[in-house]
Amino acid sequence: MVSFNDLKQLSTRSKAVVATARRTMLAPDTSKIQPFFSITDVELHSGIPASRIRTVLRHQKVDGQPLPSGRTKEAIGPQADSLVGRGSKLFYTADEYSTIMRALNPERYRPKGVNAVVISVCNYKGGVTKSTSAVSLAQALSSLGHGRILAIDLDPQGSLTNLFGYSQTLDIESNMTTLPILMGHETSLKSKVLKTYWPGADLIPSDPALQSVESNFMRDIQENGLQAMLRLRKSLVELKTEYDFIIIDTPPSLNNLTTHALLNTDGVIMPLPPSNLDLCSASMFWDLFIETCARFGAEDHPDDAIFSFIKVFSPKVERTRSCQQVLHWIKETYARYLSGVQVPKSAAVASAADSFSTVFDTPPKGATYKRSISHDLVRDAYIDLAKEVEVEAMSIWYPSNQVKAA
Ligand SMILES: Nc1ncnc2c1ncn2[C@@H]1O[C@H](COP(=O)(O)OP(=O)(O)OP(=O)(O)O)[C@@H](O)[C@H]1O
Ligand SMILES: [Mg+2]
Repeated sequence: MVSFNDLKQLSTRSKAVVATARRTMLAPDTSKIQPFFSITDVELHSGIPASRIRTVLRHQKVDGQPLPSGRTKEAIGPQADSLVGRGSKLFYTADEYSTIMRALNPERYRPKGVNAVVISVCNYKGGVTKSTSAVSLAQALSSLGHGRILAIDLDPQGSLTNLFGYSQTLDIESNMTTLPILMGHETSLKSKVLKTYWPGADLIPSDPALQSVESNFMRDIQENGLQAMLRLRKSLVELKTEYDFIIIDTPPSLNNLTTHALLNTDGVIMPLPPSNLDLCSASMFWDLFIETCARFGAEDHPDDAIFSFIKVFSPKVERTRSCQQVLHWIKETYARYLSGVQVPKSAAVASAADSFSTVFDTPPKGATYKRSISHDLVRDAYIDLAKEVEVEAMSIWYPSNQVKAA
């Protein structure tokens, strides 16, 4: 027999274990470590040779101020142990790195006053790497120099919240999430924005109570009509000019929360692992979304834009025959929507996730020059995905320009 009290005890115990796991994995101070970038990163991601970068750093000014001068490992302190090094002597924070990247190549970045590109990471199948990809994409875009990123966790499970270093149990209450906005009790999201350990990346977290949006949905639609579905969209207007990208993680379901995201987004990113079951459920996802669009009157204007872009990419890719066969079906299905990116299946991702991290938080262990191949392949794949997203963003920010990828 398992009683209600047994379940309550189980729940209490599981919360205590999560808290202990966080303390253990994130020791010594249960917070995550901010990234530092080197001239090698600037060279790699700007495509400009280091000698030219050093000249620009010495002579160029931005708003009358010299460019950041960086700091040595000694000046960073104990945190420097986690830096990969790559032969560099000086390191820059994400904010400083973004300033340098913008100075080198301003037309690659969002012009002042122009709106953020909103991206929703969706797939109604569970465990397809939506949350891992949402955080990794945010970190990869930051690694390309996009300095202002807002991540929104619309999944009551809170994986994105955890990966950004917050504990749903210890740090978050329901009024700190999108819940009051989605329920129509508040209109502004500004006060919900939390700073994260990653400079320039902010978070609106989630809480299990977000689930109540679903049970309230039918009554809400009856009382307020389809306007109820546009609340997130309205509340984001005031934030859009402050960020380069807004990345929304969604639950494994095409429910009201996911629909809220899809009705507000410029681009959809769909992680689709090369498995036949995942291919089938992705196909149902589009069917259901078409029904939702029809409810919003899309059939009356069938050629109007719903999204600026859709990118389907394959995570957890293996070199097996069956995997390659499904990749072939995915290519046939998604054609122009298919990203060139394949993220390998990698134990490095799983072991990073065990310490509430991604491959961008965990340089190869104890290595200055030694690289973990699988770790770096995953990291490079997300950088490539970010570059594809960047090209889409540039065509939104600079509609009349011929866009070039870096
Ligand atoms: N490239 C990869 N190789 C191997 N494992 C991976 C990879 N990417 C993510 N994972 C692991 O797959 C699992 C599911 O990932 P994640 O939680 O990001 O999926 P999700 O789609 O957000 O899940 P949910 O639908 O429950 O929200 C996690 O354990 C994660 O560490
Ligand atoms: Mg998730």
